[in-house]
Amino acid sequence: MSEVGGPAPAGLCSGGQAPATAEGQGARRRVVLFVDDEPIVLMGLKRIFHHMAQKWDMLFASGAQEALALMAARPVDAIVTDLTMPGLDGTELLRRTLREHPDAVRVLLSGYSEEELLGRALAPAHQFFAKPCDERRLANALEEAMDARAYVTNSLVLEKIGLPLLPEVLRRIAFELDNDAPDIEEIAALVTADSALAEAVLELVDGTRLCAGRTLETPRQAVLALGIEIVQPAVLFLSLFSRFEAGGVRSYALPKLKAHCLRSAGIARAIALDMGLAGAAVDCAYSAALLHDTGKLLLDVLYASECQEIMEAVRADNRRVSEVEAEHLGLTHAQVGAYLLGLLGLPQPVVRAVARHHAHSPEQKGFHAEDAVYFANVLDHGLFVFNECYARPEPDPLRLAGIGGDERLGRWRKVVLGLGLGHAGVNRAGA
Ligand SMILES: [Fe+2]
Ligand SMILES: [Fe+2]
Repeated sequence: MSEVGGPAPAGLCSGGQAPATAEGQGARRRVVLFVDDEPIVLMGLKRIFHHMAQKWDMLFASGAQEALALMAARPVDAIVTDLTMPGLDGTELLRRTLREHPDAVRVLLSGYSEEELLGRALAPAHQFFAKPCDERRLANALEEAMDARAYVTNSLVLEKIGLPLLPEVLRRIAFELDNDAPDIEEIAALVTADSALAEAVLELVDGTRLCAGRTLETPRQAVLALGIEIVQPAVLFLSLFSRFEAGGVRSYALPKLKAHCLRSAGIARAIALDMGLAGAAVDCAYSAALLHDTGKLLLDVLYASECQEIMEAVRADNRRVSEVEAEHLGLTHAQVGAYLLGLLGLPQPVVRAVARHHAHSPEQKGFHAEDAVYFANVLDHGLFVFNECYARPEPDPLRLAGIGGDERLGRWRKVVLGLGLGHAGVNRAGA
């Protein structure tokens, strides 16, 4: 075994731009463990990541047993492992890591052989990278995933969220997106091969009014309409809901929550366009609004009885869910959702927008994607009856001042009503 790294240079411990909630993370240097049975690959990893020694302590192990011994000796923030190794393979190593060190970010490096594809399907990894990997992309992905852990500072919750959640199609999409020039037609082929997913993607594009005024006839057209930037968040959204629908979420009416997320995505996009945001920011607003409440699904499964109590308190006193969550659990669904999405490799602006969708004040001057997500959530709760017992959120004064007051909100309200989003089995407020 070997180690690369040295004393922490001042100011470099947090690894780039840390999330707003990262203050409590402390100053310990991050530890990243690389595992591969081929000495030449390990040497290559050591060489290409040498420059990261200013930020990380790096450990290198030539097999699973050695990796487990290293992890037993000191906490590791992320593990990057080869899949095919003699003895314990990468799948089993990640399974043991999940059990014994659940807060470590788990990344699998693998190729495209049939054996590797099967291994990937079984491995409890947060992210997958093709070999040979793009060093810059992998370094960024590791940094962002480690940053995401700062959204959840409650170690009990952290331990429970070590779930493998990705269906195979999402992994294949991630692999395609990892190419230098990802091909949307390839992704469309992956989606259309799964008839239930293909149907759901068509409904999603329709339900968010992504192509208002155009008729989409095939799932392929729907994937092309989503485009490279949105297709992964969209498929993740559908996969999470279908997984939790099957698993039996108790505290929320899932069809209503799903409809709220779909409408919010359409609203956030309309607001972002109205404010003249650039294409990437419009896509970010849409993706983040779609995924903004996924933390609720996770909390319900992990804390079933606490969530029932939280919802009883919300109903009894007509309060906001996030406030009651913070009182009962010490964190909110916004933080848990951001944590999950960060681990799964969603872009950082999307993760931050999800984390801040209930924040009382804007993070920066000007108008950004996260502001569109915040107001989309507020407007949807105001215009559509999501749950009779929820407090209708009024925008916080600082947020309202940030957009120039009520007049702008009134304009957006008209735009939203013009989108015709209320058809998904949910009544308009007051109707
Ligand atoms: Fe929320
Ligand atoms: Fe919401």
